[in-house]
Amino acid sequence: EISLEIINQNFILNLPSEIQNILSQIKAVSKLLNEKVYLVGGIVRDLILNLPNEDIDIVVENDANNFAKNLSEFLPTAKIRIHDQFKTATIFLENGLSIDIATLRSEYYEYPTALPIVTQGTIKDDLFRRDFTINALAIDISHNNFGKLLDFFKGYNDIKNKNIKIIHNISFIDDPTRIIRACRFASRYNFTIENETHDLILDAIEMGILERLSWNRLKNEFQYILEDKNPSKGILLLNKYNLLKLFHDNIILDKSLLKKLNLANKFKNIFAIKLEYWIVFLLVLTSQLNSKELEIIFLKFGFSKNFINKHKFGIEKRKILLEELNSKNKNSEIYSLLKNIPEEVLILLILESTRENKVKIKSYLFNLKGKVAIIKGRDLLELGLESGPHLKEYIEKSFLIQLDQINPSKDSILKELNLIC
Ligand code: CTP
Repeated sequence: EISLEIINQNFILNLPSEIQNILSQIKAVSKLLNEKVYLVGGIVRDLILNLPNEDIDIVVENDANNFAKNLSEFLPTAKIRIHDQFKTATIFLENGLSIDIATLRSEYYEYPTALPIVTQGTIKDDLFRRDFTINALAIDISHNNFGKLLDFFKGYNDIKNKNIKIIHNISFIDDPTRIIRACRFASRYNFTIENETHDLILDAIEMGILERLSWNRLKNEFQYILEDKNPSKGILLLNKYNLLKLFHDNIILDKSLLKKLNLANKFKNIFAIKLEYWIVFLLVLTSQLNSKELEIIFLKFGFSKNFINKHKFGIEKRKILLEELNSKNKNSEIYSLLKNIPEEVLILLILESTRENKVKIKSYLFNLKGKVAIIKGRDLLELGLESGPHLKEYIEKSFLIQLDQINPSKDSILKELNLIC
């Protein structure tokens, strides 16, 4: 028998005031409609962990659509989208927050990896169908019970003890993507996959259950791992379960790959601001593959032709690029060599290069690449040059000169171009 533990600490007070305000409105609608409402999913887990999470996921007992319509009247600037098919709704607020509303449900699977059959259920059913105990907590936000944490499956303890634990024994059979999710949550929070859950993962893998998953679902989960806080740890866990082969047969997590992954993790905070850093991890993970294999993976991830060509070019040529870079010392030379190489590829190059070349690539990324040209076409036209390809050449030349001068100015550049004396 599953026991319900109610923890009376008011976690809601730890939420940002914007979200607390929304929850008060939800409470008011709960009173108006006499509906029971619960806050569920990742936000509850992260509240207990004291980590930020702005995904407001709520479930109501009877009718999500009706609840959403009423709630949106309390939130005048909100936009509402009803998904009739799934009996769910989303409300989008002006401040960028959104609220996902579902009706409590019970789910069962007719056969492994199928989509679940859904029926109406209790809050306990709704939490029981979820992946891990840490994700199966709810906070009652109904008008008459506001703020109570409901813990049917000892999720609170598992959060405190840093355990990833499934709720029932066929969880991984119902939904094999949970195997990859286990690796993701374990790596994100530095939690341990608890013994029984670990054994059930091994059983499910032995049954070949993951081979039945569509590439699309696998891909999404892989991408989530690569996008998560600590991808190298997630990748190590996947490797421990021998799952990198689902990604590609020829990926071997040897010392050198491991070193690159760890370095990529280390560099994340420096570079992640400007680009989709998960692609760097994808490039590192596939750095042992040949260009045909790489192209197949890129296609499977749905990248555009243009993206594939640019990235593949850089990756294929990276040995030669690094060799050439050895002899380039002037800013203009470094710039010209690297300017067409995508940033993610340049970071891969940093991970694979000598100290001298690392410095050069970093200088390109942080300094040269973002420089604004001092000489514009207009300046050259004023000096009497005619527009056309010739002018373009002059503009490029001026920029390269600018990069090599210590204190470049309009005059100093034009002088070097012999356009003024
Ligand atoms: N869930 C599940 N099984 C899955 C996917 C999701 O049981 N295969 C449940 C979990 O209860 C999860 C919730 O649906 O908490 C929301 O799913 P999702 O947004 O994918 O995960 P979060 O826990 O919110 O994690 P994240 O912080 O990565 O968004």
